[in-house]
Amino acid sequence: MLDFRTMRQELAETYDLAPNPDLAEEMNDTYAKMSRVVTPPDWATAAPYVAAINRLKKEKNAVILAHNYMTPDIYHGVADFMGDSLQLAIKATEVEADIIVQGGVHFMAETSKILNPSKTVLIPDMEAGCSLANSIGAAGIAAMREKYPGAPVVTYVNTTAEEKAASDICCTSSNAAAIVRAMESDTVIMTPDQYLAQNVARQVPEKNIVWWNGSCVVHESFTAQDLRDYRKWNPETTIITHPECPTDVVDESDFSGSTSGIINYVREHKPAQALLVTECSMASNISDELPEVDFVGPCNMCPFMKKITLEKILWSLHAGGEEVHVDEAVADKARVAVQRMIDLSRDLGI
Ligand code: 13P
Ligand code: SF4
Repeated sequence: MLDFRTMRQELAETYDLAPNPDLAEEMNDTYAKMSRVVTPPDWATAAPYVAAINRLKKEKNAVILAHNYMTPDIYHGVADFMGDSLQLAIKATEVEADIIVQGGVHFMAETSKILNPSKTVLIPDMEAGCSLANSIGAAGIAAMREKYPGAPVVTYVNTTAEEKAASDICCTSSNAAAIVRAMESDTVIMTPDQYLAQNVARQVPEKNIVWWNGSCVVHESFTAQDLRDYRKWNPETTIITHPECPTDVVDESDFSGSTSGIINYVREHKPAQALLVTECSMASNISDELPEVDFVGPCNMCPFMKKITLEKILWSLHAGGEEVHVDEAVADKARVAVQRMIDLSRDLGI
């Protein structure tokens, strides 16, 4: 657990972290990517952290892999690579730097460690979990196998290394339907997200898909009625969902896709108004890039993703914490499931 007092004291003694409007002005190119969602005073506060992190990355030969749910100061200020879960996993295999700092949640850092074990992988807050990870456990997967003998287990990457190790292959929201379709068996076990499984079942009706009852605390909170209300308010609103949403919510949308799929859809279609039915930072991160799009809707935040802050990233690089370790035997098995997903996705052109 982070000791905030010690962290803040040591950071203040080592770096000049006072709000700095002059430095903020010097870093205007970076600010221009978030100026519609971050106020100048907030940027003056963030700029010293951004500068210190970027300096430390060079000194320590580190890279930051950031998920699309990171806040704009992280996403535009310090990330070396941004993407969805599949893109981050693929990128992790290619990292040559000594240190990977994961701007994301723990299962993403574990995946980086599994795929590139010789690197030091740091997660700025160990408590950045996920409501899906550890919701089934290896024992739950074994129970599913017993119930559906011979059926392959396709496990969402939003899981622990142990859960991946107990699976045949992983999937992400960007390749789940294609992976399930590619399985030889008629019956396929999908774990642990019931809604992703149900959404895939609609896309792949030729398979008998059975699922675990896990869910994402962020995406399960949207309702179909919410979306119908938005449509009634403005029938022109383009509604875009993430497939972790319940099926009746996805049914109300114009498009459903992974976080990068959502970003690409908005980039391509440039709707006059868009409701992104997913985590709040998604719209913030592309708001300056797409000023013609009016992003509307509630700000539903992932409490786990939001544990990652500039301050904790700086501390992580400064103090070398918190390092992610995965038991070697578990990592070896988990790597097979993740690598199978990466290889199959590449073969399928995803
Ligand atoms: P993506 O793979 O679409 O980025 O999703 C990850 C996630 O955690 C969504 O809640
Ligand atoms: Fe997990 Fe949901 Fe947060 Fe994604 S948004 S990390 S699925 S809790």
